[in-house]
Amino acid sequence: MKQLLIAFPVVFLFLICCTLTAAQSPAAAPALSIPIVPSGPTITTAAPAPAAGPASVTAILKKDGRFSVFIKLLQSTKVDDTLDSQLIDSNNGLTVFAPTDNAFSNLKTGTLNSFTDEQKMELVQFHVLPTHISPSQFQTASNPLRTQAGGSPELLAMNVTAIGNMVNITTGETNTSVANTIYDDNQLAVYEVGKVLLPLRFYEPLPPPPPSPPPPKKSAPKASPVSVAPVDSSTDKCLFKKMFHAMACVVLVMAAFP
Ligand SMILES: *[C@@H]1O[C@H](CO)[C@@H](O)[C@H](O)[C@H]1NC(C)=O
Ligand SMILES: *[C@@H]1O[C@H](CO)[C@@H](O)[C@H](O)[C@H]1NC(C)=O
Ligand SMILES: *[C@@H]1O[C@H](CO)[C@@H](O)[C@H](O)[C@H]1NC(C)=O
Repeated sequence: MKQLLIAFPVVFLFLICCTLTAAQSPAAAPALSIPIVPSGPTITTAAPAPAAGPASVTAILKKDGRFSVFIKLLQSTKVDDTLDSQLIDSNNGLTVFAPTDNAFSNLKTGTLNSFTDEQKMELVQFHVLPTHISPSQFQTASNPLRTQAGGSPELLAMNVTAIGNMVNITTGETNTSVANTIYDDNQLAVYEVGKVLLPLRFYEPLPPPPPSPPPPKKSAPKASPVSVAPVDSSTDKCLFKKMFHAMACVVLVMAAFP
């Protein structure tokens, strides 16, 4: 009878100990969920150009006959469609600096081919200002001028200085001047430039991104200090632990019921 009274709490405590031991076994690591964010530039598809209507940049350049490389770039990057629909949708107008075929052939050999598709697009957009600037307005334009390429004002902008009819342009990489007015209807202005305007951004490293705080250091969960021996196999460890707990329980019970 007395043995039974002792046996019951022993079994009971043993069960508690075993449950504790089981609870200590490491849970499966939660699966890392990495949110998938769509990346890459969003390219807005331009509406199809109407058959008739406002001036088309490429049509104006084609008529002149000295801008075949620039026209090819406008078309391959689809910037021409964007410009044509901008002329319809926006009241700000556009200004285009068109480099002649001569300007392109004066580039260092292989320059254009060394550009990625994205850079070619940026290059074309860099030759466009999203506002109409008449020849006389260059004298009061505030530098740097924001181009259609957007981006950092230091590396993707151009400065103009104008005295009288002379308009100089600098990008930090290219110095040139406006050679001619090809077209101007108070909405769209197309100017001939003597050089391809190279954005400084293609040649200068981007400013470093702001430093992000280091990820908080997570202290790895420490192994239970009750480990009896440094056994590597987790099965063995578990067995040792269980045995240790069982023994501890028996000692406890024996102490409780002397
Ligand atoms: C434009 O550049 C030329 C050659 O560098 C220079 O002689 C002229 O003074 C400049 N004009 C303006 C308006 O800055
Ligand atoms: C353009 O003008 C701005 C403002 O005057 C100046 O800070 C910047 O250095 C100029 N950049 C170039 C390439 O001349
Ligand atoms: C452009 O012109 C400026 C001022 O005249 C000069 O300091 C700079 O070195 C020139 N840059 C290039 C690439 O020719």
